[in-house]
Amino acid sequence: MNQSDYDLRQLAGAEQVAVTAAHEFVRLAQEAVADRGRFPVALSGGSTPRRLYQLLAEKPFREQIDWSKIEVFWGDERGVPPDHPDSNYRMARETLLEKVPIPAGHVHRMQGEREDRDAAARDYQAEIARVFGVASEGEPAPFDLVLLGMGPDGHTASLFPLTGALKETRRWVVANYVPKLNAHRLTLTRPILNRAAQVMFLIVGPDKAKPLAEVLEGPPDPERLPSQFIQPGPGRLLFLADTEAARQLRRGK
Ligand code: 6PG
Repeated sequence: MNQSDYDLRQLAGAEQVAVTAAHEFVRLAQEAVADRGRFPVALSGGSTPRRLYQLLAEKPFREQIDWSKIEVFWGDERGVPPDHPDSNYRMARETLLEKVPIPAGHVHRMQGEREDRDAAARDYQAEIARVFGVASEGEPAPFDLVLLGMGPDGHTASLFPLTGALKETRRWVVANYVPKLNAHRLTLTRPILNRAAQVMFLIVGPDKAKPLAEVLEGPPDPERLPSQFIQPGPGRLLFLADTEAARQLRRGK
């Protein structure tokens, strides 16, 4: 990627990444609510964002957000029920959503557990369109913020290397089978992720050093490194990485 296409902030450790992300979340939420009366955000799953969600549920961040104006969506979901230990919804509910006064109707869960995954994906796209007040077959809805993580294989959301969802250039939400996990997922796709006003990656730990260097400074190979597909054009692309994850980057050395 061209260095001009993204911002990278290297933080000392996981806690500093989470605190920095919390300040950015609050800043964006306050701006969006002031300008447009609401803040639609897509949460990431996985383990890295846990600490961010815990911080947002506590002083001083909790009181800095008008939770009645937040619309929470997910970037992806595993093929499990909402009370399953692997559920991205459950993780966000336990760390954040049950601790803040967000209206129940503002929490838009991906129904990853449904047998008819394609219908679940279509219904989720329709729900996004309804909340944003846009046509569900038109231009993707513009999230104010999309939170993302990155796997050791360079995947993001549930856009895994060499999987079908990488090819989707029209739908906003699709089902995606991940052979190496033998798992079905639901995921936002490149069109809607790249429509966001801001995409913020939270990347922590030594196992992300190699993929982060490949994604940011290696040759373009997005089928193998799907995080390279995330280039929100007019939107801002921000990577928050701790020292361990940033260790193999040439930039800033
Ligand atoms: C998921 C996430 C996934 C995650 C990365 C990083 O459902 O697992 O959406 O894309 O962000 O796998 O996960 P960690 O934060 O646990 O390293």
